[in-house]
Amino acid sequence: MYDFDKIIDRSGTDTFKFDLREKVFNKRDVIPLWVADMDFAAPPAVVEAVKRRAEHPVYGYTLRPESFNISIKNWLKRRHDWDVDTSWISFTPGVVPALALSLLAFSDPGDGIIIQPPVYPPFHSIVTDNDRELVYNPLVMSDGKYRINFEELERLASKKENKILVFSSPHNPVGRLWSKEELTRLGEICFRHKVLVLSDEIHSDLAVYGNRHIPFASISKEFANGSITFMAPSKTFNIAGFGTSYIVCENSDLREKFKHILNGLHLNMGTLFSGVILEAAYDHGADWLDAMLKYIEGNIDFVHDFTESELPGITFTKPEATYLLWLDFRELGWDQDKLNSFLINKANVGFNNGILFGKEEGKGFMRMNVGSSRVVIQKAMENIKKALDKEIKG
Ligand SMILES: Cc1ncc(COP(=O)(O)O)c(C=O)c1O
Repeated sequence: MYDFDKIIDRSGTDTFKFDLREKVFNKRDVIPLWVADMDFAAPPAVVEAVKRRAEHPVYGYTLRPESFNISIKNWLKRRHDWDVDTSWISFTPGVVPALALSLLAFSDPGDGIIIQPPVYPPFHSIVTDNDRELVYNPLVMSDGKYRINFEELERLASKKENKILVFSSPHNPVGRLWSKEELTRLGEICFRHKVLVLSDEIHSDLAVYGNRHIPFASISKEFANGSITFMAPSKTFNIAGFGTSYIVCENSDLREKFKHILNGLHLNMGTLFSGVILEAAYDHGADWLDAMLKYIEGNIDFVHDFTESELPGITFTKPEATYLLWLDFRELGWDQDKLNSFLINKANVGFNNGILFGKEEGKGFMRMNVGSSRVVIQKAMENIKKALDKEIKG
């Protein structure tokens, strides 16, 4: 019903992933498997809704009707079995801007903000760009899985200058979908020390292989009170270009403080498409999403089997959520510059450099985006194999 095999030429649409290749990789034709959007057409219902609205030729200031909040409420109930009240929801013009606004609302310059690398690069930059201090609690690997270092988190959270934890759930780039036990332990530590949890759940709809996401705030009243949840249909339905997202926050003090900053900067309007696309996606996009996730599982399986059989020295643990793979090249024993240059110049593939997710934690790693047609993924892997054979055999 949906053709994810179809290759859609995106170049020339001023898209980051394709049209920034020259600037980022110094090479115009690398297979672009970096920025986290997918090469698939959006769900037909979204395309139709955009066309319908675009056909009306007046594009003035536009409100989001109450049906916007109701679509979110219904989606969170259906998809995550989470009961939220529509009054807890506030539109935001992107998750990263909303996280940055929260730092302004709930901390002061110089305060410590805890993040858990390797993690999404803007988690680092929103802290330093806003004159707060980065405090690292690196994830640790055990039994082939990344895990939270709870002892270190307790130590860091207990310092009075550390005010906020910016939490990636599911975690970009390692693909962990945190269990109820992990979420509970993390929350108990943070709340014991009055550390506010900003739970970025933008990847929550992208659980694969039958895994289920648990919204942090759904765990208990205490968790809802001590956190803000950040969500969006953007990753889920491949509509990131519209910059539509929202927070869910049951604690009215936190919510009002957040809105004070959002409204004070006049960032609450959004574009005229913000309501249209969210409602179309949440109300009519579920079948597309299920089909897309099956396709992604096929891509992940393909890369997994290929690396196991053809690429000794490259490994990864299958993600529990997201279309992002955190590839481990450490067995090759190369430094990061050699690895980066090899992938771009010899294999002609464009991945995200691991060190952008954590200077130390990302060494020897690259993030690969498998949100593309199977043949594109196959070609990238074959390119790596050919280049590696040549490099190793000389
Ligand atoms: C963890 C995480 N948060 C936020 C974003 C981006 O959110 P937005 O485009 O709504 O600012 C991404 C995109 O890759 C992400 O991975």
